[in-house]
Amino acid sequence: MIKIFSNKDELALFFCDELVKFVLQKKEIFLSLSGGSTPEIIYKYLSAGYKDKIDWRKVHLFWGDERCVPPDNEQSNYGMIKKYLLNFIDIPEKNVHSVDGENDPEKEAVRYSEVIKKIVPVKNEFPVFDLVMLGLGEDGHTASIFPDQMWILNSKEICEVTVHPSTGQKRITLSGTVINNAERVIFLVTGKSKAAIVKKVLEKNTKKFPAEFIHPDNGDLQFYLDYDAAAQLNNKQLYIE
Ligand code: 6PG
Repeated sequence: MIKIFSNKDELALFFCDELVKFVLQKKEIFLSLSGGSTPEIIYKYLSAGYKDKIDWRKVHLFWGDERCVPPDNEQSNYGMIKKYLLNFIDIPEKNVHSVDGENDPEKEAVRYSEVIKKIVPVKNEFPVFDLVMLGLGEDGHTASIFPDQMWILNSKEICEVTVHPSTGQKRITLSGTVINNAERVIFLVTGKSKAAIVKKVLEKNTKKFPAEFIHPDNGDLQFYLDYDAAAQLNNKQLYIE
């Protein structure tokens, strides 16, 4: 289902309201956070206006992907989320399950998979996140599953090590199998630069873009787009279910 917002502030505020409702419905919620620049505004709004509307003791935070860099590196998704969210909310430290970007990537993929396996409930033999937030790269990647590493979509591992195709930066990412096992997946996409890839991904007929293969088997898939990111969609596409 696609929701289009006039700007990213509206999108962010809607997401925050949805998250409040989602947390209220659950005794405990297992949330996989997205990185990159798009969700920064969401984390800022959560810290500014929603921090007391959510009982963070019920929330377990995980990272859908992480760059293999130290937490104080400006590339770190943990560092960004700490700067805009963790520093402001009353969440028990034991509920924050971040990737160790300084660990050996192969070892960290195993370690983080074990953490997820231990804490996140299981469905169909895989961890089942209540909500996975995802971004979308202009090359159609999501989380850190890149077009030249499509095999990760069907990996039977919980996490895998990937390599950014242009920078060579190592990443830890959830596999497509785990993402597609989630109760709910929300793509958060804003900006003119994403309009072309949004159209291609929603058309789902190139089969070249990892994001085309994200469809929770028994869950809910949503796209939150601002007008700019939705600019190339035609009316037919606006009603995908
Ligand atoms: C990451 C993200 C990645 C991101 C897209 C979009 O760690 O970079 O998980 O999948 O969501 O690359 O990035 P922007 O939001 O910066 O455009």
